[in-house]
Amino acid sequence: MNLSVELAGVRMGNPLMNASGILGLTSNSLLRLAQAGVGAVVTKSIGREPRPGFKAPNIVELEVGLINSMGLPNPGVDEYVKELDRALEALKVPLIASVYGCSPEDYRYVSTMMCARGASAVELNVSCPHVKEVGAEVGQNVELLSEVIKAVKAAVNVPVFVKLSPNVSRITTFAKAAEEAGADGLVAINTVKAMAIDVEAGRPILGGKFGGLSGPAIKPIALRCVYEIFETVKIPIIGCGGVTTWEDAVEFMMAGASALQIGTAIVHKDLRVFREILAGLSRYLNRKGLRSPSDIIGVAHR
Ligand SMILES: Cc1cc2nc3c(=O)[nH]c(=O)nc-3n(C[C@H](O)[C@H](O)[C@H](O)COP(=O)(O)O)c2cc1C
Repeated sequence: MNLSVELAGVRMGNPLMNASGILGLTSNSLLRLAQAGVGAVVTKSIGREPRPGFKAPNIVELEVGLINSMGLPNPGVDEYVKELDRALEALKVPLIASVYGCSPEDYRYVSTMMCARGASAVELNVSCPHVKEVGAEVGQNVELLSEVIKAVKAAVNVPVFVKLSPNVSRITTFAKAAEEAGADGLVAINTVKAMAIDVEAGRPILGGKFGGLSGPAIKPIALRCVYEIFETVKIPIIGCGGVTTWEDAVEFMMAGASALQIGTAIVHKDLRVFREILAGLSRYLNRKGLRSPSDIIGVAHR
């Protein structure tokens, strides 16, 4: 079964990628992901300046997923591109550069640097945790989001994907704004704002107090977001949030996803999760007499 897909011009051997932040910080982890069978690799979100991230503990493990408040630790783009140089030669799959910033200029700068070093697409993470603009995250401010997308689109000549936050009242408003500003694709969704409290200490567990919930707990939310966005925009959607099994993958595609990102399931199941899902997807398509993953995209809307 040929599982290849084309995503806004990016050719992938199959529709699976890692979700940003799960592996992808070192060249070694990028290569391990490629060997594990992904169709494209996504980097950890990289910013203009180095960031140490929030103080520990950064992760709470729940039965239904994880809450993390990593705080975007990364070495800054000038250092990171040196790391990329070590991987790119050997990397046989497209590299998607996840970029965050706190202003359109930050996004433009980091995206340009990553593309100059061989990124096949840019993914804009629009949930900067410490923002220079007065208290507004880029992903929660339609005007700022549009400005960021336009700044990056004017600076790079690869597809630009925008990763949307579910922490807004109507995700479709942001999806539409992103499409109108020139985005080539959308990633839905980033983590859902959450917290956990230590009952003995009587204090929030996470160093950053609040964190982002990921894993099976958010799958129904992510699926709903993909479904709604599919009815709102024409650009391709990359589904993300709790994808763990091949059935999850099929559900997301039926809701309208053209490709999928997997994060927490790598932590829970390890890198074998990619081949497991691909084998299941192949068997499913064969059993249904279909020839390509694209045959199921959006069918739940009919
Ligand atoms: C430990 C951890 C670190 C993450 N770091 C990033 C990041 O740097 N950039 C980003 O866009 N999303 C980040 N995310 C969010 C994931 O990319 C993804 O959107 C989310 O985890 C939902 O997918 P999942 O349920 O498959 O994990 C992170 C998630 C986790 C669990």
